[in-house]
Formats: sequence, C-alpha cells, structure tokens
Amino acid sequence: MNTTQISSLEEYQKLYKESVDSPEKFWKKEAQQFIWFEDFKDVCQWNFNEPNVKWFLEGKTNITYNCLDRHVLERGDQTAILWEPNDESQSVRSFTYDELLDEVCKCANGLKSLGVVKGDRVILYMPMVPELAIAVLACARIGAVHSVVFAGFSAQALADRVDDASAKLIICSDYNNRGAKTIPVKQVVDDAMDLGCNSVESVLVHKNSSNEVNWSDDTDRWWHDVVNDQSPFCPAEEMDSEDMLFILYTSGSTGKPKGVVHTCGGYMVYTCFSFRNVFQYKEGDVYWCTADIGWITGHSYIVYGPLLAGATTMMFEGVPTYPDAGRFWKICEKHKVNQFYTAPTAIRALMAKGDDFPEQYDLSKIKVLGSVGEPINEEAWRWYDEKIGKGKAPIVDTWWQTETGGIMITPLPGITDTKPTFASYPLPGIQPVLVNAEGEILEENDVEGLLCIKHPWPSVLRTTYGDHQRWKDVYFSMFNGMYFTGDGARRDSEGRIRVIGRVDDVINVSGHRMGTAEVENAINEHPAVIESAVVGFPHPIKGQGIYAYVILQGTGDDNIRKEILDVVTKEIGPIAKPDLIQFVDGLPKTRSGKIMRRILRKIACGDVDKLGDVSTLLNPDVVSNIKLDALKL
Ligand code: WT7
Repeated sequence: MNTTQISSLEEYQKLYKESVDSPEKFWKKEAQQFIWFEDFKDVCQWNFNEPNVKWFLEGKTNITYNCLDRHVLERGDQTAILWEPNDESQSVRSFTYDELLDEVCKCANGLKSLGVVKGDRVILYMPMVPELAIAVLACARIGAVHSVVFAGFSAQALADRVDDASAKLIICSDYNNRGAKTIPVKQVVDDAMDLGCNSVESVLVHKNSSNEVNWSDDTDRWWHDVVNDQSPFCPAEEMDSEDMLFILYTSGSTGKPKGVVHTCGGYMVYTCFSFRNVFQYKEGDVYWCTADIGWITGHSYIVYGPLLAGATTMMFEGVPTYPDAGRFWKICEKHKVNQFYTAPTAIRALMAKGDDFPEQYDLSKIKVLGSVGEPINEEAWRWYDEKIGKGKAPIVDTWWQTETGGIMITPLPGITDTKPTFASYPLPGIQPVLVNAEGEILEENDVEGLLCIKHPWPSVLRTTYGDHQRWKDVYFSMFNGMYFTGDGARRDSEGRIRVIGRVDDVINVSGHRMGTAEVENAINEHPAVIESAVVGFPHPIKGQGIYAYVILQGTGDDNIRKEILDVVTKEIGPIAKPDLIQFVDGLPKTRSGKIMRRILRKIACGDVDKLGDVSTLLNPDVVSNIKLDALKL
C-alpha cells in the first residue's frame, strides 16, 4: 500500500479537482495508506481566523514506524540511506532498511538512557553524516521533539535556539569535514553552553574525526559509549497526529528567528505523497537531494519523504566544489543517481565553472532534475536542462517554504509541462490564490499578486513554538481567512505560477532565508555602529546578496568593515555576512521615523534614477549622499 502516484495529465487534473471539491475525502484516502496504531476519527478541523488547524484527529501513529518497520517486511535488504563522504578516499556507507531500523532503535534507547522522554526537545547540531539522520529518527521514535540547527550557525545563534526550545539534550559531532576544511563543531557547542543553554543536561558527541576535543565530564557523553551497546529493539512511541514532531527555526521579518512547528500525522502524509509525485520515484531508483538536513528540504526530502516512500535516499557530507567543481556530477555517475534535487545557487556556481565538468561524467541515469529554495533564473534553468538533463530530464522547479512542510507548487515530471522560471501548478490538495493589496482574489490569468493559500493542507505549520500569537499575526492576519506566504507571484495566460520573491523584510541568500532585522541587530552589536539598515540586491551566484547601510560613530574604513563582518559571523554565522557595507551619515526616514527601505533597495539594486519622490521624507537630503557613495562601492 502506498499513497497515489499520478501517472498522467488526465489523472492529475481529475485528482486535483477531487482534492478541491472534497479535500477531506481526498486526504482520507491518502492517509489510509499509512499504518495507524489507532484510526483517526476526523480528517480535518480548521479555522484560519482563530487560527487553528488539525489533521487526522485522534489518529495514533509513529512516523518512524511508517519510515522503517513497515518497509522491513517488504524491503529489509534494500538500501535506505547511501552516504557519500566528503573525502573521496573514505568508503561509502550504506544502511539497508533493516540496518537503519536497528541503528535508530539503538540510538533511541541511548536517548532514553540519558533521560530523554516524549515531549522533550533535543537540539541536533551535526554535519551531514548518517548519524544525523539516525538521530532525527531516534528522536521521533521516542516522541522527543527534534530541532536541527544547521551546523554553520554560530554559538550565539545555537544558544538562542537551544534556549527558545529549552532543550534537554544537544547531539553534535566533534568535527565537520567540509571540503578541505575541518570545522570544530563541538567547540561551538561548548561556546554556546557558556552563553546560555541552562536547560541542557547532556551533550551527546558523535566522533567524526581523529582530532581531540575539550571534554566536560559533567555533561559530555560519547555517542559510541551511549549508543553502540544498546538493544536494537525500541518500541515506537504512540504519537497523536497533532503531537509535535519537530521544531525548525527560520528567519522572519522581525529580529528573532521563529520555531516553525510541524506535527506527526499531517506531515507524514504530505511529505510521502509529495515525494512520490514530484520525483516520480520508482522501485530501485537512487534519489539524491543535496540539501543539508539543517534546512526543511533535508527534513522533508532527504529523511522523511523518501523513507516513508521506501526509497533509497543519498546523503553527501561535502561541498559541490571539492575536490573540484565536478564532484556533484561524479557522484551522480558513481551512484547512478536517478533523481537529483538541488538549489539554483549551486547550479549557477557550477555553471560558472564551465561545461567541462559535467561533460566528463555519465549522467544518463538522471530522469528528474529538481530545483528549490529561490527563483531559478532562465539561464541557469537552460544550463541545467541542457548540460545536466541533456534535454531528457524534466526540471521540477519546486516552490514551498519551511512553513509549508512540503512542496506546494511544481511541475510533475513527464506529466505536466515545464516552462523556465515557472513553478507552474499546485499539487493536488493545494489551493493557491493571488490577491491584491486589499486582499481581493485575482481570478484572471496574466496577473501579478501576493501568493496566499486558501485551504489548509496536511503539513501546514501548526504554530510558532512558544508564541502562538506570532503564528496568527505573521501568516493569518494579513488577509482574512487565508494563509499568506510572504511571496509575490505572477500567473501566466495558461495558469502557471511563477514565484518572484519575498515581499516582506526577508531576503534569500543562496537559498537561505535571512531576516533583514536579524542581520541589522547583529551589525548593531559593533560598538561603533549607531544604526544600520539591511536590504537585498541581485547577486549573480547567490540570487540575492546582503547590502548593509551603516551609520558609524567616527569614520569608516576597511578595518571596521572587517570587524562588522566578524560581529555578524559571531552573532549569526558566516551565511549572514553582508556582501557590501556602505557607511552613511543618515538613513532615509518617514516623518514617523520608519526607515524607507524601498529607497535603500532601489539604490542597492543600482536603480538610483528611479527613486520617485523623496520630498516627503523627514530627511530628504541624506538620499543624494547615499546615492553618490553607493556608486563608489
Ligand atoms: C522561501 C522559503 C522550501 C525549501 C527551501 C527554502 C523561496 C523557495 C522557491 C522556488 C521561487 C522559492 C520563496 C519562499 N522559494 N522555493 N522554487 N521559486 N522561490 O525554504 O527557507 O523556508 O524559504 O524561499 O521566497 O517563501 P525557506
């Protein structure tokens, strides 16, 4: 038994219509394909005004039972996880469904031995090693709530997340092997512990290198001591559909990252359904998503979706350019990858290295190419199509968000058509609409508007951790009765959707979401900074770069620029470092004191002639200076 896999355009159209006409009937059928310890009583209860969303009410299950135990009977010897190391001379590791279940149970028993119980929050701060996926599943096995923090975040950012989640345990590695670098992961955890983390009782450390680490006997425990001798049997905790599965922190338009909460039942149903359809995964295929498990893409489409569908999912420890820019393509050849899913920023970076790299490798096994995380520009789309897919592998440009849990708008390969830069059509069960600033739905084609979703889908976020009001304010208060995505979009004359980008104060740097306020707060930590304003600007590789306008006490020079970058690295991590810093005397403000970002954005984009009327500003004179200095950068 498995969720529906659409195989023709007619089927897609029929199913889509059914899913809109009677969503409950549609999702009930899909949900029934899973193993429930107790059946759900009701499919969906929702109210976007309250707001409140529940799916598969009173159903009891465990997502790992559906990811692992269920498959062991049918495909115990099939590879579940295939892992390619950073260093090519090291051996590939792989886990069959049988082996993965054993490892997950051993880790789950290890977590129990450390006192972790259902409902406890566990922070995972690890590189892309199989133990990260194992730890994710081990938490889910016992009903602990995992919160994976991308291992590129700083000690401060890690401590902020640990504290917000009041986590009992941190699981980390000693070191992270990334390209030619060895990054001290445990040291960052030690630093985070010095900055806060008062709720943490233990730190479980997975050994991933031969280097030494600092050790605190009070808190630190080695993975191999805690996990290796545990029993490979651990019952799957009975979870209610609406029990929390995980928290994943993401940036918003205010300073503090928010903990997006996903729950067990709906997330399970939707990630499996979307995975099977978007990638048209067939028995025996090797599927590879290059994301990091620290982001939602890795959660839904490296771990949960593929395993729920009984797929072989690949994990890669390293980076696309090590030892050279052919690494991705070499791995595709080596493991005969059938579905390849990556981000536009990686495509652009590899495209810039020339066609010689992909041409050296046999990419003929690739059937589907995926793109995610940001709008893909036409040039990158065409290169991906021609040089990687050889015109034979449809590109699925998948639009979705941390909050949506799964892919929402995408072509279906071989089923619906593709058009460069268009995410195209909604999956069954997804009802996107474009609205104008007044919230009126734009029914016609060939329009631009704000992207909202009219009806809930099973994996919509249920709350923002510890702050339900924020959930309401951010997603459901903008337009009455609809989920607001924060994105602007266009619909073409044939109904395809093209997502243009954020319309709020969020920028998308290399597919990573960054709140401008978050970066400003970090910059303002520098003692010489009086005020700052951050906006995005078009960047050839990253999609968007970070442009910071900074008012200083005293004069600015490259030294101070470097110090500011160091502060941002310390507060958030290297991914938040501004690409350009412009020192200014003042920031354009409205009479009520609000920074006019619109003007700053235009200047950052080089549109200095299109600023419009600035005379109503509190301080119109600052604009001309900013314009002049911008040209010098
Ligand atoms: C934002 C969500 C979804 C996993 C990775 C990012 C942008 C994402 C696309 C796409 C145009 C896209 C949107 C969205 N985005 N995919 N195919 N085309 N824009 O998740 O960090 O939550 O960011 O990424 O602006 O709102 P995220």
